[in-house]
Amino acid sequence: MLAPEIVMMSLKVAVIAVTVLLLASLVALARGNYRLHGRINMVFFVLTLAALGGLEVIARVLEPQMFDEFIAARQATGALNTHLMFSMPAALLLPFMLFTGLRHKRTAHIALAIIFSVLWAGTFITGVFFLPHH
Ligand code: HEM
Repeated sequence: MLAPEIVMMSLKVAVIAVTVLLLASLVALARGNYRLHGRINMVFFVLTLAALGGLEVIARVLEPQMFDEFIAARQATGALNTHLMFSMPAALLLPFMLFTGLRHKRTAHIALAIIFSVLWAGTFITGVFFLPHH
């Protein structure tokens, strides 16, 4: 059994860590180093889906009752729903970001990147600042 506090805190640290990677990939992009941008984002892709996916599975599938109680006791149900409205579509977009990037479908990749950036900013802000971790 994992305490909700530990899982929530781990999720926040993971979101911050992968966001640093994403920002680094954008710096590489701005410097014209597309290859490095792609490399960093492959790591971003794997870590995001593995770490966040794994922890979300614990929270939503393995111990949903404990998490529902943790969230309800802190009156954070609305905050969690808002967070999921950003994080779910962001996660769904990730494979398409990787595919369009690897295939050099530049127009599609940039169009998706605009939507993804808004969704990721929402995921970060609601996840790190709105959700409780103690
Ligand atoms: C969020 C803002 C992002 C912007 C503005 C952006 C933009 C770009 C641009 C302009 C390229 C060059 C396209 C070309 O070669 O024609 C590129 C390549 C690429 N991007 Fe992104 N991208 C973003 C996020 C991502 C994400 C989240 C992923 C993966 C999950 C990703 C994966 C890739 C890959 C794999 C390449 C190919 C790199 C290579 O040529 O070796 N990008 N991106």
